[in-house]
Amino acid sequence: MICSVLMLLTFTMGQAQQRPIYLDESQPIEKRVDDALRRMTLDEKIAVIHAQSKFSSPGVKRLGLPDFWTDDGPHGVRPDVLWDEWEQAGQTNDSCVAFPALTCLAATWNPQMALLYGQSLGEEALYRGKNMILGPGVNIFRTPLNGRNFEYMGEDPYLASRMVVPYVQGLQQNGVAACVKHYALNNDEEYRHQVNVIVSDRALHEIYLPAFKAAVTEGKAWGIMGAYNLYKDQHNCHNAIMLNQILKGDWGFDGVVVSDWGGCHDTDEAVRNGLDMEFGTWTDGLTMGATNAYDNYYLAAAYKKAIKEGKYTTRELDEKVRRVLRLFFRTTMNRQRGYGFLCSESHYEAARKIAGEGIVLLKNERQILPISPAQQPRLLVVGENAVKMMTVGGGSSSLKVQREISPVDGLRAIYNNVVYERGYVGDIGGQYNGVSTGQDLTEKRTAEDLITDAVAMAREADYVIVFGGLNKSDHQDCEGHDRLEYGLPYMQDRLIEALAAVNKNIIYVNISGNPVALPWLKDVPAVIQGWFIGSEAGEALADVISGKVNPSGKLPFTWAAALNDVPAHRLDAYPGVWRKDHKVIDEEYKEGVFVGYRGVEKYKTRPLFPFGHGLSYTTFKLGKAQADKSVITGDEPLRISLTVTNTGSRAGAEVVQLYLHDVKASVERPYKELKAFDKVFLQPGESRDVTFTINRQALSFYDETQHQWTAEPGAFEALIGTSSSHVASKVKFTLK
Ligand code: BGC
Repeated sequence: MICSVLMLLTFTMGQAQQRPIYLDESQPIEKRVDDALRRMTLDEKIAVIHAQSKFSSPGVKRLGLPDFWTDDGPHGVRPDVLWDEWEQAGQTNDSCVAFPALTCLAATWNPQMALLYGQSLGEEALYRGKNMILGPGVNIFRTPLNGRNFEYMGEDPYLASRMVVPYVQGLQQNGVAACVKHYALNNDEEYRHQVNVIVSDRALHEIYLPAFKAAVTEGKAWGIMGAYNLYKDQHNCHNAIMLNQILKGDWGFDGVVVSDWGGCHDTDEAVRNGLDMEFGTWTDGLTMGATNAYDNYYLAAAYKKAIKEGKYTTRELDEKVRRVLRLFFRTTMNRQRGYGFLCSESHYEAARKIAGEGIVLLKNERQILPISPAQQPRLLVVGENAVKMMTVGGGSSSLKVQREISPVDGLRAIYNNVVYERGYVGDIGGQYNGVSTGQDLTEKRTAEDLITDAVAMAREADYVIVFGGLNKSDHQDCEGHDRLEYGLPYMQDRLIEALAAVNKNIIYVNISGNPVALPWLKDVPAVIQGWFIGSEAGEALADVISGKVNPSGKLPFTWAAALNDVPAHRLDAYPGVWRKDHKVIDEEYKEGVFVGYRGVEKYKTRPLFPFGHGLSYTTFKLGKAQADKSVITGDEPLRISLTVTNTGSRAGAEVVQLYLHDVKASVERPYKELKAFDKVFLQPGESRDVTFTINRQALSFYDETQHQWTAEPGAFEALIGTSSSHVASKVKFTLK
């Protein structure tokens, strides 16, 4: 008797202890997803596919699945806002490290830096309890007026692809999802909710999609954010072609499609066209602060009602929930992931290292740079951007940092004799959504007096270092609007001209995510592109100016001399034409595939600095490139090798770039397209062999008649050099 009771007890306990499949980590994710899905009620399913607060969506409490938290992105983890409002939650533990903005990352031309970036950011996100970072952004630089170019990776689809993949991988190694944005064709900010982009299939596939495709197929991104704008008259957050056909169909994306905040507009389209998680929708309920506001979302009560009424089965819903559950098992339910850490020294080091590789030395006449601190030079530092904090502002990428070293402080840490003059007043505000820089930038002097004072000091200085450019205010490098002009704002041209008239040793450091007109360029011997670098801005810039770091960044975009040289503007294809009802503005990408340097060659313009350009304090020699064969057949790869030598006296790095030229094609192709690059670090006098492998895909264009990539047999040339306009070596070969 006792024996059978014991047996029964052991049996029942064993049963109770048996884990359900969805909680059993030894089971494959897909089995766990199916099991969890089977256990969920309709209400629970509806709940997990839309937000419950500004940045979170619910898990399933009953099943032990935690709530899901997202956050911006892409350059650091955004401070916490209130549950239902954009204002600060007022936490004291949400100050972060700001990493360099993504244009700077792209300018490193070093995928290792992108990996380090993703890993470091992921660690910060983990500590902050964020399961998805809303980034990185890979919209192609089409116009220098785009207020958000600083958040993206430049004009070239190949460069952006190579950089986005390791960023995504590094981030996701932490069990934190990437949400690659903004998919797709969100290439300017003006009227972003109303723009309907008209673009050829070729340009879509050759220019605007490759970085997204690489993030999905190679980086295995777990999330994609739909863009605000429309394509073929349908919003991208529920666009059948973009989401169902291309992303989920052709590329086999198994993650979640997240709407941009407020980018969802229609239940039926959201249900059918591939949106998986709805965030940020503006409902009356939200602005009125109703307690059940999120029920008003397109994928909430309205969807449930339609299912109940039989308009939809749960087929689409289950498909969405399956993706959300997959996301849970990859992130919140992943017990292997660590706890992360915030503001660690390793993150500051990463930020400084990435910046050091991304700062671009554009011009350096008379080898005026670097300026050795040992010379004890008298330095005059001029410009608001030498002191202004740049991590606050710019829109959703705005941060609350633990520290941000200003350029003038970075220089003062190295040089003894540094005098500062304001020179111009830009924007003295320092607020974004309740975060304040705490800086008082008010100035009593007039614009004329500021110039006069700076000029007087410039007469006494050995070097004048001007920090100018743009900032993160509206209509500068900022979300929501575009820039109003290509020229420098705030009378900076006048200031720089006046300084150059009294001092020959001007170093201009441009702080921005975009190129600007530089009408006085011939009078200024040195120009540095200093980006928005984040926490370590001052130190990283001082590293380059003093020569502690030898610059090795290369431009990820073409620096046009004038706005009209940019194909989109030359063809009057920006910002578009309003329809009669003034609800939609059609923006036709008339330049097709001729974006950036592809346009420079077609229209024979002369940029101030070409795509891929960037100088070093040492010199490099590229040997003659040679191919391992002259004819390739089928999918056979072609290997092209050359020797690179550091011929100067400092250690440094050169980015060797390989562009392909299709000698004769049945369609008009860009003269050359970037298809490989390698950043080579060399000691003085050291040589290294570099080998590039070219495959059939690299020779292909998107054939609109066949709807596929095609490589046409015939003659090709590989052009190898150190920028898009500096070709050192050519290799001819034939595709059979
Ligand atoms: C931006 C996104 C951002 C989201 C959440 C939107 O306005 O376009 O990039 O992730 O807000 O802040």
